[in-house]
Amino acid sequence: MNEVLALLSRRRSAKIALLKDPGPTAAELDTILKIAARVPDHKRLVPWRFVVFEGEARARFGDVLAETLAKESGEPPSDVRLQMERERFLRAPVVVAVILRTKEVPGVPEIEQLLSGGAATLNLCLAANALGYGTSWVTEWYAFSAGIKAALGLGPNERVGGFVYIGTESEKQSDRDRPVMAEIVSRWQG
Ligand SMILES: Cc1cc2nc3c(=O)[nH]c(=O)nc-3n(C[C@H](O)[C@H](O)[C@H](O)COP(=O)(O)O)c2cc1C
Repeated sequence: MNEVLALLSRRRSAKIALLKDPGPTAAELDTILKIAARVPDHKRLVPWRFVVFEGEARARFGDVLAETLAKESGEPPSDVRLQMERERFLRAPVVVAVILRTKEVPGVPEIEQLLSGGAATLNLCLAANALGYGTSWVTEWYAFSAGIKAALGLGPNERVGGFVYIGTESEKQSDRDRPVMAEIVSRWQG
């Protein structure tokens, strides 16, 4: 099978717990991000941007996650939970936040800009997969937290589309069930 089709046909998210070192090199990450930015984009608004977490910054962001969780929880989180938050971004060598930044532009409704952000996120995953890395696109609680939004310095028109964890898969996952094509494909008959 053609190499590109083979990659697309076996695409599967990695389990974050199985993402280990090594992560992409600096040059590979540049390639991954350039490919992420190469997506359909009505009126070229670039309604997305990327924030990279690597090295020490992952632990520092973990401290922010723990502090934010403590502030935003009704009940004080357990020490175990706080430690989990501190280590959250250490689960993979690189994490990329995809920030959706929609604009009020006539003719380009918000939904189109959000879809472009989704395409950028998947392109990011596919480029990393093509380089041999596993990826996991998640939101989890911190994509929707006002405190995290502030800590990331997001503007009023910005929100987190997802966090993509990237690393080397220590174990391949078996596939999951896929949609039954006959249930989702129809031919318009007029
Ligand atoms: C926008 C978005 C957010 C997601 N957030 C989560 C999440 O927080 N936790 C999770 O386990 N999976 C989440 N997923 C699902 C995974 O990314 C993944 O697609 C799925 O678990 C496995 O399917 P796959 O192997 O076909 O990718 C999310 C997917 C999308 C598109």
